[in-house]
Amino acid sequence: MRVGVFDSGIGGLTVVKSILEHNLFEEVIYYGDTARVPYGSKDKNTIIRYSLEALEFFKNFDIDVLIVACNTASAYALDELRANTTIPVVGVIEAGILSLENKLSNNDSNILILGTKATISSKKYEVALKSYGFNNLTSIATGLFVPIVEEQLENTQILDKTFEHYFKDLSHIDAVILGCTHFPLIEEKIGKYLGNAMTIHSGEAIVELLKLKYNCNNKFTKTDIKFFASENPDGLKDVAKKWLGELI
Ligand code: DGL
Repeated sequence: MRVGVFDSGIGGLTVVKSILEHNLFEEVIYYGDTARVPYGSKDKNTIIRYSLEALEFFKNFDIDVLIVACNTASAYALDELRANTTIPVVGVIEAGILSLENKLSNNDSNILILGTKATISSKKYEVALKSYGFNNLTSIATGLFVPIVEEQLENTQILDKTFEHYFKDLSHIDAVILGCTHFPLIEEKIGKYLGNAMTIHSGEAIVELLKLKYNCNNKFTKTDIKFFASENPDGLKDVAKKWLGELI
């Protein structure tokens, strides 16, 4: 089993981490569009075009399934990607919704959705959650978390101030959807700041979805991983070494 993992840049490595922890595949081909990141501030047509170009890249490899690790691309480009390939294309939004639905039994729960500007304005999470009967929803575009994580400022006052800026008007939150690749890296801090709210992590959610819907229940002893980037692949590999450590 060979899986392709696509993201706008380095953030999708958080999804790769979960995949590697569960040994689901023999080989992972990762492609980050580092030359054109961020996608979260771009418009729908651009996000779709870039995602289709990434799909062309993956056609060089005989992948069995394509995971769109990027929430922004998952919000806008899944239909177009699926229309242009015969392999299964799995997005993180569907996975996150399923994971939340499995974990939260009370439909009155207060759910907070965090993501990039583009993901939040797509309303993809809201529409799906409402269809499951969850109506107490708050959405906030928290794009500043992306550079904070990339600049490794998560242990500084800058993150505390940013929490204050985004979250100061919130009342009680039961669960928070980390609707962006970078947010799992500050998952504990977000959960704690929001009164120990339950957190939904795209990587873990994808693993649950792959096992449930795509029958990925294999346990490979070793996973080979190849990293590709549209710009500075060495920079991406350095981040991978830092974030994935002994897994690679
Ligand atoms: N990968 C993007 C996402 O998950 C975050 C970075 C970007 O804006 O491209 O939405």
